[in-house]
Amino acid sequence: MAAAQESCCIRCTTFLITLGLTALFLWLSMSVDEPHLYLDKIYVPALNKTLNSSPVNTTILFTLKLVNGNKDSGIKYDDVHLAFKIFVSVNTTRPLGNATVERFYQGHDKKAFKPGSLNGGVNLTEAVAEKVVYRVDFTTAVKYKIVWWYTKRHRLWGGANVEMNNSGLKVYRKPVRLGGKNPEVIPSGTPEFRGCHRALVSFCVAAFVLLLNFDGFS
Ligand SMILES: *[C@@H]1O[C@H](CO)[C@@H](O)[C@H](O)[C@H]1NC(C)=O
Ligand SMILES: *[C@@H]1O[C@H](CO)[C@@H](O)[C@H](O)[C@H]1NC(C)=O
Ligand SMILES: *[C@@H]1O[C@H](CO)[C@@H](O)[C@H](O)[C@H]1NC(C)=O
Ligand SMILES: *[C@@H]1O[C@H](CO)[C@@H](O)[C@H](O)[C@H]1NC(C)=O
Ligand SMILES: *[C@@H]1O[C@H](CO)[C@@H](O)[C@H](O)[C@H]1NC(C)=O
Ligand SMILES: *[C@@H]1O[C@H](CO)[C@@H](O)[C@H](O)[C@H]1NC(C)=O
Repeated sequence: MAAAQESCCIRCTTFLITLGLTALFLWLSMSVDEPHLYLDKIYVPALNKTLNSSPVNTTILFTLKLVNGNKDSGIKYDDVHLAFKIFVSVNTTRPLGNATVERFYQGHDKKAFKPGSLNGGVNLTEAVAEKVVYRVDFTTAVKYKIVWWYTKRHRLWGGANVEMNNSGLKVYRKPVRLGGKNPEVIPSGTPEFRGCHRALVSFCVAAFVLLLNFDGFS
């Protein structure tokens, strides 16, 4: 009699744990936020008017900023492919070159700064309406780490127009968000506000622990 009751109790507990864990993981995996990518810095010596180097330096130097705002999930990035272009008219661009930021893992709630460079070719200084505007786009894929497991790959892409000045730097001082914007000549880079934190995770875990304890006492 006692044995039967015990085995029922074990089965019941197992069921509750499975249900709780399933709910928790489902909820966690549905609530991850995409990382935000920014062009933190860009320097094009060819545009630096106080630098008289000849032959012209064709390098583009940049720093990519990657922000994982998730409080609970790490992110595994695939190679981040960057494409640099220059506007040659209001709505047409010409490719300058590509660069790759190597795949890496980023812990939860972390920022990463990845410097890189590329050869931008000869015409780095074409202007449209006396403005030199670059277009920077990225593509990559990410996997989110949910407790011990990884989700499937999610493709990510985005870009921004970046107006350059006579120092060879971007006009907009702050990092420029590489979002899902179409090419236009008007420089973008409006900062976005981050969503609220997920206090609910703590609540969910607390409720789960309570449920286990309650079950243990019965
Ligand atoms: C532009 O060139 C000048 C002269 O070499 C140098 O002093 C300055 O640091 C350069 N600007 C930037 C942003 O590197
Ligand atoms: C181009 O400029 C960058 C940054 O100032 C420098 O590191 C690089 O050596 C230069 N390249 C050439 C070929 O002068
Ligand atoms: C480019 O913009 C001009 C006006 O500024 C417009 O007439 C033209 O259709 C546009 N071309 C494309 C391919 O969108
Ligand atoms: C740069 O990348 C784009 C795709 O993002 C590709 O179409 C293009 O051929 C690449 N250019 C070079 C020079 O590798
Ligand atoms: C570079 O720009 C010059 C004029 O600024 C133009 O004549 C030349 O065709 C351009 N070269 C390329 C490869 O676009
Ligand atoms: C270019 O922009 C940077 C800020 O990104 C600024 O510090 C620098 O003074 C500007 N240079 C010119 C010539 O306007």
